[in-house]
Formats: sequence, structure tokens, C-alpha cells
Amino acid sequence: MSASEKPYQATHEIGRVYDAITDSKVLVNFFLTTALQFIPAAQSYLFLAAKNKTLLLEVSVPLTVEVPSDLAAEAQKIFEDGKLRVGKGRMFLPLIARNSVMGVACLERTAEAPGFTSQEAEIGFDLASEFSGALKNILLFEENMKMERLAAVGQAMGMVVHEIRNIMQLARFSDEMTRIGLKEKNEKFLTTGLSKMTKTLKEMDGFIGEMLSLTKDYQLEPENVDLSAILEELQSDLAEQAHRYRIKLDFKTDPGFPVVEGDGRSLYRALLNLVKNALEAFQDNKDACIKIRARIKDDEHYELIVEDNASGMSEEVRAKLFEAFFSTKGKRGTGLGLMVVARTAKMHQGSVKVESQLGVGTKFILTLPCIFRE
Ligand SMILES: Nc1ncnc2c1ncn2[C@@H]1O[C@H](COP(=O)(O)OP(=O)(O)OP(=O)(O)O)[C@@H](O)[C@H]1O
Ligand SMILES: [Mg+2]
Repeated sequence: MSASEKPYQATHEIGRVYDAITDSKVLVNFFLTTALQFIPAAQSYLFLAAKNKTLLLEVSVPLTVEVPSDLAAEAQKIFEDGKLRVGKGRMFLPLIARNSVMGVACLERTAEAPGFTSQEAEIGFDLASEFSGALKNILLFEENMKMERLAAVGQAMGMVVHEIRNIMQLARFSDEMTRIGLKEKNEKFLTTGLSKMTKTLKEMDGFIGEMLSLTKDYQLEPENVDLSAILEELQSDLAEQAHRYRIKLDFKTDPGFPVVEGDGRSLYRALLNLVKNALEAFQDNKDACIKIRARIKDDEHYELIVEDNASGMSEEVRAKLFEAFFSTKGKRGTGLGLMVVARTAKMHQGSVKVESQLGVGTKFILTLPCIFRE
């Protein structure tokens, strides 16, 4: 390699380092630092264009508060014509990526220092091109992330509103029943109204619990759990719905199943989600049945098995099951139910497995530790 090739090889190598940086602020600082190593100067500035095409100072090395006004005006001109300019004591490098100028870098020497050489100008230009490509990629990535986040927030909000509306409907119904009961002094209406109100509160509580369980800082509340009591509660909560669709619920713990440690409410909600999915997977099946079994697996683990003889799932559905917002139910499903199940299992240091055959049925197996470990 000849001596004159060396700096170009080096700028290319540095370009690879630029590409490996994922934070725009780190990259911008690193670019000015490396530029100053190749092209010594007293001061450097980096301007990036705002949406309205005016240049704003992003960073300066060494850090300065004031940008000379003639320098700022000249940088704006370079931004507009997109051409490198080497003047007396100042080098302006347009930052060009994908055919558009995104900003300008400027290196400034003191009046006593020698002027910039043409080789320095070439190195500056090469470094600026490597930097601009890397920065554009980061900015596009950050923009995409923002859009994706915004879309996810919108989707989550839609789901929350949808769920709250359902619960409100139940609340309105119980309110109406209670009013009629009071007006007509009808005890049956009053009892139904109040029991629906209890159900509404339970649904609201469960919904809040589920939303919380999906947040980052959620912590389980371990306690002694009586699974047979939880299964009884679940069976009674779903009895009406199951009866309406002629689906048998058969929930049991194995004889001698011990008290285990865990978060009872989380386990209830995980099982509720699994049974609701099963209920929703039946299409007029004969002998429709949903079974839950709680049984000891080995010295340290127990299993909760939720099994149905409903529609089963295709390979494609099974592959996406635990993805957020994946649902085959259109507006009727939010696609978060199984995420809640997976999260519950993970937070208990357990696991979920699924076996399913299209047209035959589905089995979810939660394997959980009998003793809770943080
Ligand atoms: N027991 C089952 N039988 C057949 N398909 C199932 C079963 N359980 C889950 N699925 C499939 O997995 C998908 C995802 O389930 P998940 O519970 O995460 O969301 P969802 O039920 O669609 O909506 P929701 O958030 O209201 O629970 C369902 O849409 C369904 O296609
Ligand atoms: Mg579901």
C-alpha cells in the first residue's frame, strides 16, 4: 500500500466503526473526534438540518456555546448547495446521504495555523460520507422505532377501550336490573342486578391485573395457593357461559394434590384465558368438553393441563400463538390472552407447552415449581 493510500484505507476502516454505532449522539461525537485526529483544527462544529431546513448546531468539539454568525451563515449556504468548501482557516463538509444533504460539519483553524491541504480536504470528505451514511441509517431506524411504538400504543389503546366497553356494558345491564328491581320491589331483579355488579367488578379487577401483568416492572405476590379452590372458582365463574353453549367443564386436582406456592390471582387469570380460548374454539362440537387437571409432575414441579376437544389449530396459528396481538378472532380478540399465560408461567419460573391437532383439539401444559423462587 502506498503512503497516500493509507489515509483512505483508514477512513474506510473508521466508516465500519461508524456503522457499528447505534446511538446517534455517540456517533456524532465520535465523528468529530476522529475528524480532528486526521485533520487537526482548533474547533469543530456539526450542524444538522431541522424539518424546516434550517441548520441547528448539534455538537461542537471542544464544546462552545457561541457559533460565529458568519460561520453559521456560511454553513447554511453549504447546506443549500451541497458542495465541499475549503476557505482560509475553515473547511466545510456537507453531510450527504442518499442524495440529500442532512447537515454540515465545519473544522476551523486559528489564523496562525497553516491552511488545509487538498489531501486533508479529501480525507474530510471521505469521513463525512462514511459518517453521513451511518447517521442516516440510525435516524431511519429511530424514526421506524417511533412509528412502530406509536402504532403499538394505538393498538394497545384500541384494545383497552374495547375491553372497557365490554365491562361497561355489563355494568349498565346490572344498573338497569337493580333499578327495575328497586322500582318494582322485585327481589329477583335486585339479586340478578347485584350479582352482575359483583361480576362487573371482578372483570374490571381481572382486566387491570392482566394489564399490570404485561408491564415491565410487574412483580408477583407469592402466597400459599389452594388450586382446587381456584378451579372451583373458575368453574363457577364460567358455568353460565359453558351451559349456554352446551360445553362440559371438568376441572379437577389429582387426589392428594398439595398446597403450592405462587401468585393465586395470576394463576387464576392464566387459567381463565386458556379456558376462554377453549370455549371460543368450539363450533357446535358434539360432547364438547374442557378439562383441567392439576397434578404433581416430579419432586419439584406440578402441571396444570387445560385440554379441549374443539377445533384445534393449524401449524401457522401454532407458530404465532404467543406473539403480542396475534389473534384469529378479528375484532373479538385482542391477541394478548396467551401472552398473559406465557408471562405468568415465566414469572413463576415455569414454562408453557402446547399440543394441538386440527379438528381434534388442543392441550396447554403449564409446568410450574411447587415452591416459589424469586
Ligand atoms: N384452545 C384453542 N383452540 C384453538 N385455537 C386456539 C386455542 N387457544 C388459542 N387459540 C388461537 O390462538 C390465538 C391467540 O390466542 P390469545 O388468547 O392470545 O388471543 P385471542 O383469544 O384471539 O384474544 P384475547 O386477547 O381476547 O384472548 C387465538 O386467536 C386462536 O386462534
Ligand atoms: Mg384468548
